[in-house]
Amino acid sequence: MKILITAGPTREYLDDVRFLSNASSGRMGYSLAAAAISRGHQVLLVTGPAEQHPPAGCEVHRIETTDELRQRCLELFPGCDGVIATAAVCDYRPRERINGKMTKTGHPIVLELVETSDVLAELGSQKGHRWIVGFALESQDPRNNAMRKLRMKNCDCIVLNDTSAIGSLTNSVEVLSPDAETIAQFTGTKDDVADLLLGLIEASIAP
Ligand code: CTP
Repeated sequence: MKILITAGPTREYLDDVRFLSNASSGRMGYSLAAAAISRGHQVLLVTGPAEQHPPAGCEVHRIETTDELRQRCLELFPGCDGVIATAAVCDYRPRERINGKMTKTGHPIVLELVETSDVLAELGSQKGHRWIVGFALESQDPRNNAMRKLRMKNCDCIVLNDTSAIGSLTNSVEVLSPDAETIAQFTGTKDDVADLLLGLIEASIAP
């Protein structure tokens, strides 16, 4: 299969040198890319600035902002069989990006933030015959929030994990179906979990 994988954090710039972002290491997405390659799939990795090197053998598309992630995914998704979305996308960006470097004013400043686009929801709206695997990182009411995201983004399943996954080498995930059934639970290193998830996708998600 030809698989699109999104990974790592996005960045939203306040000016030319400062940005808002999050602590995602990109590890889960990169482990999934490596697992997919070793299982013989073709991988298109769209990645924000991550701590690791992308695995050998995948086509790497580097992005920084959510808008760049969106553009690249909209371009690549039509030619793929499915997408696994692990990117930790900034939900907000500063309303305006200031040219150059902001200088101090000596007073508090107010940052006005506007919502970014929901990339996976947009891919979900033009899914066609393709499959979609979303991730949900939840700290409260996890199952309900994950199911809301699965429906909103038209996913075939959603991988629920909690905030302990951030920056960690290990992960513990629950995979939920559109009927809100738990179809799998995996715990281990992110490499192990990635391989198990790929096995599940091959067996039950990809048509
Ligand atoms: N996602 C995306 N574009 C966004 C936000 C999220 O493509 N703007 C994708 C993520 O890569 C993940 C899924 O949607 O696969 C859920 O992301 P998550 O951050 O858990 O949820 P949000 O939809 O951003 O909702 P909230 O932050 O309010 O929990």
